[in-house]
Amino acid sequence: MYICTSLDLKGRTALITGASRRIGRAIATRMAKDGADIILHYMSSADEAASLREDLNKRGARATLLKADLSTPEGIDQVLSFSKSYGRDIDVLINNASVFKKATLWKEEDIPSMAPVLQANALAPYLLTVGLAEGAGLKRVINITDALAWLQRRKGYAYSLSKDLLTHITYALALDLAPGVTVNAVAPGPILPPEGKDYKYLDRVGGTVPLKVRGGPADVVNAIMFLLASDYITGQVIYVDGGAHLLKEGII
Ligand SMILES: NC(=O)c1ccc[n+]([C@@H]2O[C@H](COP(=O)([O-])OP(=O)(O)OC[C@H]3O[C@@H](n4cnc5c(N)ncnc54)[C@H](OP(=O)(O)O)[C@@H]3O)[C@@H](O)[C@H]2O)c1
Repeated sequence: MYICTSLDLKGRTALITGASRRIGRAIATRMAKDGADIILHYMSSADEAASLREDLNKRGARATLLKADLSTPEGIDQVLSFSKSYGRDIDVLINNASVFKKATLWKEEDIPSMAPVLQANALAPYLLTVGLAEGAGLKRVINITDALAWLQRRKGYAYSLSKDLLTHITYALALDLAPGVTVNAVAPGPILPPEGKDYKYLDRVGGTVPLKVRGGPADVVNAIMFLLASDYITGQVIYVDGGAHLLKEGII
């Protein structure tokens, strides 16, 4: 069941970063189903990206693959060069790709691993948005943040900071790119198990949020579709987290 059923994406092109698997794949699949052409960005999941492209093509959607490492300036340049040579406007940008690396605030040896995380999770969405907004076509940007990023403060310090920074980038760009482009964020809670964890773990986390259950990729997709359909919402964060953001210290 979807909240929004009336959005017609026909004739629009969406660039979705980290689209080959998991939540990104669900976003790409739904947007293609609603008629959008999709640029499927991926980094290392080449097989999954190729199978998704095949799947979308079979359903009549035009899907194009784009490989780039967004933790490097070269990778960001690659995406922007691709967008210039694509030949059509890119109307929608979904900044979904994300890097997590263990890093604490206190260990000096962790510091070098922080820069690529900040680059991929915050600087890349910013630079891609600004770069694409220079063309005429961009209308909607959705940044995927994290309602529970603060939980990672101890183990994934850079990840936690990067998602906070991305929220602030969302507010700043919503102002700076108005009136032509809306910029919003969706902040998922427990949706899919992180690397090394299973659904038991996710159910345990889900049990601690006010709605007492984990979500699923369709919940994130619903929020995105709502924002894509909205002409008068910008600079918002929609929490898709069963109310977890209301608790902070109360969770797990
Ligand atoms: N899963 C959850 O429950 C949850 C909760 C809160 C927030 N979120 C946020 O929701 C979004 C999607 O979540 P997810 O769990 O589906 O994401 P994910 O699996 O952690 O990552 C999505 C994709 O990011 C790409 N990526 C990683 N490093 C990259 C790099 N250096 N350059 C370019 N791409 C890179 C990967 O592509 P390849 O596989 O091709 O390498 C990966 O498939 C993320 O922004 C995440 O932070 C998720």
